[in-house]
Amino acid sequence: MFNWGFIGSGTICHNTSRQMMKSGNHKVVAVYSRTFSRAKKFADSLGAKAYDNIEDFFKDENIQGIYIGTPHSSHYKYAKMALERGIPVLCEKAFTLSFESSLKLIELAKQHNTYICEAMWTWFSPSSLMVKNWINTNAIGKPLKMKSNFCVPNIGRPRERVISARYGGGSLLDLGVYPIAYAYNLFGYPDKIEATARMKNGVDLDCKVKFIYNSGLECELYSAIDRLGTCTTTIIGEEGRIKVPAPMHCSRHAKLRAHNRVNYRDQYPYGLYDNEFTIVASEIEQEKKESSYVPFKSTLDIMMIIEEIKKQIGLSYDEDNTL
Ligand SMILES: NC(=O)c1ccc[n+]([C@@H]2O[C@H](COP(=O)([O-])OP(=O)(O)OC[C@H]3O[C@@H](n4cnc5c(N)ncnc54)[C@H](OP(=O)(O)O)[C@@H]3O)[C@@H](O)[C@H]2O)c1
Repeated sequence: MFNWGFIGSGTICHNTSRQMMKSGNHKVVAVYSRTFSRAKKFADSLGAKAYDNIEDFFKDENIQGIYIGTPHSSHYKYAKMALERGIPVLCEKAFTLSFESSLKLIELAKQHNTYICEAMWTWFSPSSLMVKNWINTNAIGKPLKMKSNFCVPNIGRPRERVISARYGGGSLLDLGVYPIAYAYNLFGYPDKIEATARMKNGVDLDCKVKFIYNSGLECELYSAIDRLGTCTTTIIGEEGRIKVPAPMHCSRHAKLRAHNRVNYRDQYPYGLYDNEFTIVASEIEQEKKESSYVPFKSTLDIMMIIEEIKKQIGLSYDEDNTL
């Protein structure tokens, strides 16, 4: 049993905790939220202790690891506080608002010899790892094209977190990070990046990204918070294709159509949040300082790619340093 301290009491914290409880591998022992009534209601539902004072929360000795499930703009400050106290961290995507602050966190983790991992749950998932294995073993021959989109219309209604620059809103950090991470994890850092976006009130309603590789491979990656998409991923190679059904970022199956046909379906008995938390808890218990599933290089490269996209589409945010 691994004891978690949750920072946040919103959508993702409810979803992850509900699923983790079923496996019996995890317990949420403490919840911090700035609004005490929200912290208390959520904590009571989990049998955890509620805090609205972050310093007191960090002093809770029952906590073995912290999960940060708050808006993007606040990830940096909470993760920094945890690392400075030597408390291991699982931090929601997008890791922070900039490459610079992500790098600072990773340097801080090394300095304090403390584990930190981006909660990019796609890359803990057995089916994503199977797709990566197919690519690495040349199952579809030379990759030529990848298309991936993650579009959820009205995701922001009426949530400020998704539509306001103040919270690091917009499609890129909320949804686009998944197709970007998918392409990066399969094919590495692109040789060229092209990006365009429809902007409104300082955030991107949608974002169209192309990764171009010197090999000839092109990846078309699209995200939108105001349009419907298939939320699938397709990879075409010279000798076959791979299809990842919706929702591509947490799909439990994948199809290979090449010399052989494979319909892969993972056998994990619980949900993929539980899979992610169980792997991270085990890495922390083994006293690892870096995840082998989402290594620092992957988080930093993806943040560097996001920096380039931000520059091309004219997107900028300010980290929230208020407590
Ligand atoms: N892995 C996934 O599938 C997935 C899915 C959805 C979202 N996410 C990620 O999870 C994170 C949170 O998303 P969400 O949809 O759960 O957000 P949400 O529903 O708006 O909840 C945000 C929570 O953060 C708390 N909070 C703590 N400090 C805050 C601060 N400084 N500013 C604003 N709120 C603060 C809020 O409560 P108080 O106001 O009481 O503090 C609230 O409980 C984001 O990084 C998002 O990208 C991941």
